[in-house]
Amino acid sequence: MERTFSIIKPDAVSRNLIGQITQRFEDNGLRVIASKMKRLTTEEAENFYAEHKGREFYEPLVAYMTSAPIIVQVLEGEDAIAKNRQIMGATDPAKAEAGTIRSDFALSVRENSAHGSDSPESAAREIAFFFNEDELCARS
Ligand code: PPS
Repeated sequence: MERTFSIIKPDAVSRNLIGQITQRFEDNGLRVIASKMKRLTTEEAENFYAEHKGREFYEPLVAYMTSAPIIVQVLEGEDAIAKNRQIMGATDPAKAEAGTIRSDFALSVRENSAHGSDSPESAAREIAFFFNEDELCARS
């Protein structure tokens, strides 16, 4: 069993897609073991995306991620990190495989509906960024 961290981003929450996106995780064998809605502060978004500081998309990304509420979730399952990224599709929706979240719902490379951890190290950091250990409700 592996855990990964997921965000349903402002564009998707604003368009009432929380249920449809979560359904895709559940349909593919991932279990939600923690979930909350929050509005990121600028400081939180800057820290979360600190690895991209200095890139041309960093400031617009921080502005976008603080523009409306998000859903943060911890997903658990076999190969959860890879499976989640497969369900999401490529970062750029124009390059995302048909049937993926980003192909079906994303508006642009920035407003791309979902985030998922890209490695076990990122998953551990990102889960700890938003959740205390006692908020994770293991179900396996
Ligand atoms: S990279 O280039 O490999 O480091 O990018 P990646 O790890 O795929 O993700 C970068 C995150 O920034 C968001 N974003 C953009 N990326 C690339 N180009 C542009 N213009 C851009 N605008 C925003 C992208 O959606 C990734 O967000 P997360 O939440 O990490 O998926």
